[in-house]
Amino acid sequence: MLEANGGAENAGIPLVRAEGIVKSFPGVKALSGVAFECRARRVHAIVGENGAGKSTLAKIIAGFYQPDEGRMVARGREVTFGSPRDALTAGIAMVYQEFTLLPHLSVTDNIWLGHEPARRGVLNDANMKEQARDLLMELGMADPPLSTPARRLSVAEQQIVEIAKALAHDPSLLLMDEPSAVLGGGELDHLYDVITRLVDHGVGIVYVSHRLAEIEALADDVTVMRDGCVMWAGPAERTNRSDMVHHMVGRSLDETFPHRKTEVGDTVLEVKSLLLPGTEPEGISFHVKAGEILGVAGMVGSGRSRLARALVGVESTTGGSIKINGNQVPKSGPRAAARNGLVFLPEDRKQLGLVLDFTLAENISLPHLGRVSKAGVISRSLEDRLATDAIEELSIRTSGPQQAAQQLSGGNQQKVVLGKWLAAEPSVFVLDEPLRGVDVGAKAEIYRLIRDLADRGTAIMLISSELPEILGLSDRIIVMRDGLVAGEVASRDASEETILSLAVQEKSA
Ligand SMILES: Nc1ncnc2c1ncn2[C@@H]1O[C@H](COP(=O)(O)OP(=O)(O)OP(=O)(O)O)[C@@H](O)[C@H]1O
Ligand SMILES: [Mg+2]
Repeated sequence: MLEANGGAENAGIPLVRAEGIVKSFPGVKALSGVAFECRARRVHAIVGENGAGKSTLAKIIAGFYQPDEGRMVARGREVTFGSPRDALTAGIAMVYQEFTLLPHLSVTDNIWLGHEPARRGVLNDANMKEQARDLLMELGMADPPLSTPARRLSVAEQQIVEIAKALAHDPSLLLMDEPSAVLGGGELDHLYDVITRLVDHGVGIVYVSHRLAEIEALADDVTVMRDGCVMWAGPAERTNRSDMVHHMVGRSLDETFPHRKTEVGDTVLEVKSLLLPGTEPEGISFHVKAGEILGVAGMVGSGRSRLARALVGVESTTGGSIKINGNQVPKSGPRAAARNGLVFLPEDRKQLGLVLDFTLAENISLPHLGRVSKAGVISRSLEDRLATDAIEELSIRTSGPQQAAQQLSGGNQQKVVLGKWLAAEPSVFVLDEPLRGVDVGAKAEIYRLIRDLADRGTAIMLISSELPEILGLSDRIIVMRDGLVAGEVASRDASEETILSLAVQEKSA
């Protein structure tokens, strides 16, 4: 199944070469004269800040966009891809940064959707299921939910199906745009194994990621982009992390975390014996104080996101209490929670955090309609002002507040979701993986904003799979395992090892 179209005899040949690629969107030049190539048996990483043009370049190679200028050569022949189908025919498949699954279709149907009818003719239903199962198991799904509609999958599961869908085309060149952003420990290991195996079979991989540690481990070649241009390209052994960052942002970065400036205050959020399925009989108890950042660590699937969703009433609970400043919070949904001062930033920004058809200004002002209305009518200029502040504060790369959220780069969309809630100054802010897909420069900025918010008295609950982030930013850390709180540590006493050992301890131990 993982046999490449090309086979080993083509090792070292550029599978694709792009020259002088220019691409503009209304108001932005996304790429200005970019050269890029990927060879068989190589992992070629593309790094750069949010909005640098990484996805645009990958989408041009995959036939999703057509370049305004420049040419593309695939295996020595000049090609013009009018659509992703043309690229697929040439053996080029892509895993997109945004989700592409059709929510109501089953996993199997999503994987085979868009395959040539002739190809499909050869495959009968049983065969399709069989192959889908094999692919998903290789990616680490123990019991692939083949008949489940995609909308019922977790974000990580959806991502695994996206990867399987690309692999089902047996590509000789596979472009992966932030494939790892939503995956955790075990899932990542499977992804890396599959990549290694594909490369051994002669496939070339284009890998876009903000995780520089991952780039260092995986990449054979690296291209660093900034503002639509290539700043550096070469073999991975000729660069390192700090050089990459320097090329990306044009300066060296202070990678330290901001310190707390105020004393921690009284308890703001108090959760007692909260009962979710599987947490009986004792349930989940913890608290967060004013000005405190409580880190929530744990493996993927340990129940961190489920707990966060339960706090705002989108996950059902069978008992226990949630109090903010001593008042019971009704478990009737995010709106009611927000009225009580508890705001939740979900990990799945596409489904819950952002209205893609709305402009950036509309998205940011959505929770603050009172502030941007005059006599009950929404004022475009007040809305724009609120958005302009957020654009500046978070360095969102956009042509302006009236740009559709849909058109922003992935990381910039994430910043909009954050901007929307930072302006609300809630009593409790629950952040689920807020820095996923955000570039190194913006990360430092967002760390500062989160700490500032805490310094102004907000109680913050920060869920993150990045241990250095949890350790650097939190005052106190709870570690979850099997749906329950397995332990608590003060962050000054904690190390990655203490957290990991709490996160993975056997239940019986
Ligand atoms: N369909 C579109 N319409 C208008 N502008 C777009 C569109 N797609 C991308 N852009 C703009 O082109 C620029 C490059 O975007 P791109 O998505 O390639 O960035 P990226 O490097 O992938 O960033 P990220 O790390 O955030 O994913 C950005 O300014 C973005 O807003
Ligand atoms: Mg992108």
